[in-house]
Amino acid sequence: MSKESLLSLKPLVALCKRRGFIYPGSEIYGGFANTYSYGPYGSELKKNISNLWWKTFVHKRTDIVGIDGPILLHPKTWEASGHLEGFSDALVDCKKCKMRYRADHLIENALSIDVEGKSERELSKIIFENKLKCPNCSSSDFTDVRHFNLMFSTRMSKTSDTDDDIAYLRPETAQSIFLDYKNVVDSTRQKLPFGIAQIGKAFRNEITPGNFIFRVIEFEQMEIEYFIKESDWQKSFDEWLISMQKWCDLIGLKKDHLNVSEHAKEKLSHYSKRTVDIVYDFPFGTHELYGLAYRSDFDLLSHSKMSKHPLIWHDLENRIKFTPHVIEPTFGLDRTILAVLCDAYEEEKLENNEMRTLLRLSPKIAPIKLAVFPLMKKPELAKLAKEIFNMLLDYFYCEYDESGAIGKRYRRQDELGTPYCVTVDYDSLEDNTVTIRERDSMKQIRMSKDKLAAFFIDQIINN
Ligand code: GAP
Repeated sequence: MSKESLLSLKPLVALCKRRGFIYPGSEIYGGFANTYSYGPYGSELKKNISNLWWKTFVHKRTDIVGIDGPILLHPKTWEASGHLEGFSDALVDCKKCKMRYRADHLIENALSIDVEGKSERELSKIIFENKLKCPNCSSSDFTDVRHFNLMFSTRMSKTSDTDDDIAYLRPETAQSIFLDYKNVVDSTRQKLPFGIAQIGKAFRNEITPGNFIFRVIEFEQMEIEYFIKESDWQKSFDEWLISMQKWCDLIGLKKDHLNVSEHAKEKLSHYSKRTVDIVYDFPFGTHELYGLAYRSDFDLLSHSKMSKHPLIWHDLENRIKFTPHVIEPTFGLDRTILAVLCDAYEEEKLENNEMRTLLRLSPKIAPIKLAVFPLMKKPELAKLAKEIFNMLLDYFYCEYDESGAIGKRYRRQDELGTPYCVTVDYDSLEDNTVTIRERDSMKQIRMSKDKLAAFFIDQIINN
């Protein structure tokens, strides 16, 4: 990103709306806090990333299988997992303007101190004694700090209003994997170590500081629960960290924007014995992109106890039964999209002093792989261009565009991150060659139309 863009997400957010990547949720009703909609190009980008993830971690590995579990799980799930008890944020309300804040964020932003692990009482005291001001209305009149559970609840029945009907939208995809552990073991031929992967929605009722799609209330996770023998946990953890870093490379994230950050022992989640985050330098600061946790046998043991169904591994060779331990690599899909877009966004000054904005997306995940144009809107050029477009559609998602000046059409595709444009001109009618224009270098080469498919398969799929 350019220096100005590094300071702000604004130009990227504007491009996302202008070009159909990401829109604010429910916009015609004035918006709906922390919800977003993926437009035609954003949803392509999202699918390309999740398909590539599935191919990398499920199809290309013999030790991982996938599932697609429900968003609503039995309410006992959240008792066993610890979410009902401990998955909450400490919040505080401004009595004057009614704005609600995360107490830790309010204090950390105002005083630059770390308040991790402090009680509601201690947080209230810090806010009161330092006369912290509401960032919205500058009043210093706050409620006491209280914990609110982050899970969204809903009711299962329309006829009764008792608490027995309450169900929760899953706050992580992981739990539906644990609930299906036994089914997967019984219905497949996996041997320990093996993993179960899932891509799906998760929901968290979070207060967010508004960094676009970084922290939203409805998002997608790509998670793997990797079941191992306890003695193998360190080796497996190290291998997974390398696999996650290779994934970052595969989707084109710049190495110098990525880092690994170890969670201090006292800050670990209730289920974790070790966690590292892969952090990314977002324009608004360095934050968690992905997580890798050693969840021990916490989840399988808790669900075994709560459900009274033993979730164990039966080692037939050595005639022993035990509860497997778990390594969990977790990837936020929406956060991946934001990181990929931040890395790809560029504003550059051309030799003629014109500015061009482009997304330098990896061809593997670019929403449109190729755009095909006739140089001008003439029937004889359009006929050949459409023929080429239809031929390439068999291999790639392509766009055909014949309206407006050719320069503007190139610029539009640059903003969509399309790696190549193919242009048909009058020479093409004579010698069957076309111009290929590459997005990043803007270099142009001529090629016979018969060689296009093989060339692009090489550049986009095999590369
Ligand atoms: N199963 C473990 C788990 O859910 P997490 O660190 O809470 O761990 C995993 O979440 C990943 O999900 C994060 O690394 C991040 O990429 C993504 N994520 C978490 N909360 C999010 C939110 N509110 N909005 C967007 N992505 C989120």
